[in-house]
Amino acid sequence: MREALGAERHACRMLLTGQTDDLGWSRLTVAVERGSGLVLGAAAACPRLHSSGEVHAWLAVRVVAPSRRRGIATSLLAELAADARTRECAALVAHADEEEGVSFLAARGFRASERLMKHRARVGPLAAALAELEARARRRGRVPPGARVVPLGPLAVAALAAMQATLVGGTREGASKRLAALAADPAWSLTRVLEVDGVPQGLVAARRSGDACAVPSHFIARHLQAGEGSSGWPALVLLARSLGDAHALGVESCSFECLETNRPMTALADRLGAECVGTRELRILRI
Ligand SMILES: CC(C)(COP(=O)(O)OP(=O)(O)OC[C@H]1O[C@@H](n2cnc3c(N)ncnc32)[C@H](O)[C@@H]1OP(=O)(O)O)[C@@H](O)C(=O)NCCC(=O)NCCS
Repeated sequence: MREALGAERHACRMLLTGQTDDLGWSRLTVAVERGSGLVLGAAAACPRLHSSGEVHAWLAVRVVAPSRRRGIATSLLAELAADARTRECAALVAHADEEEGVSFLAARGFRASERLMKHRARVGPLAAALAELEARARRRGRVPPGARVVPLGPLAVAALAAMQATLVGGTREGASKRLAALAADPAWSLTRVLEVDGVPQGLVAARRSGDACAVPSHFIARHLQAGEGSSGWPALVLLARSLGDAHALGVESCSFECLETNRPMTALADRLGAECVGTRELRILRI
């Protein structure tokens, strides 16, 4: 528990900070009223790897309506920014659906940066197109013979947790716990691991819900990332296998998000005929 920043403005409030680990780390900070203990606002942040290679902290902040315009969100933001700096994040990223959120972010120095696009596609044609692209990449010798894609099992967890902690920040223990939970959860049974010569080198996390699935994230060892000479085959073979398995299980539709600036992903989405079903304006504050 910590005194709120700017004590003269927040004489009656305190900030509580807690930490949970989720795909690396995430941080929740809550503003409570001194005395009553009433929660006045909360903010949370978690890391995401940007296609530029930087780690950004994505955050959300909310303050209860009667306590707005008293600097509570500003204090919560200052806490999260200080924490993100210690974790060597290059920037904070947020999006706001409401006008007051947009005004708040603008007042605190966030600038419109790029758009997050949500895509949806039918799994059958998508899986077929991915299988064809993979077969072509293999014919051209782009995929090493020792590369194979397997379900996420307990043996891969330790190696992947170490890799994730290096790529995204946070502790190995936290990443390990999260990945072990994914491996044990039937909803995430479409999650797949890329191995090269038996060594885990990447993961695509995919969640199934009835006849739909979502592919929320993937990560690949740095030396195999697109732009480092891999031409994107690791993401391709991971997605091909995960969605091929989804199709075999009768899953019909798939959704995924990617940044407009992530050219390999948006080009792949276009090429595979995925429909863009929504966009979000992201705002960024470099720290
Ligand atoms: C946006 C929100 C978090 C702001 O909380 P808050 O505690 O009122 O914010 P602060 O008091 O720290 O405001 C800091 C500055 O932001 C700007 N601001 C905040 N709310 C504003 C509003 N409704 N209209 C215009 N400017 C606003 C002002 O410049 C303000 O400084 P000032 O009061 O000295 O003029 C709160 O309105 C909220 O919970 N909204 C719903 C959720 C949301 O949109 N979250 C933001 C995106 S993650």
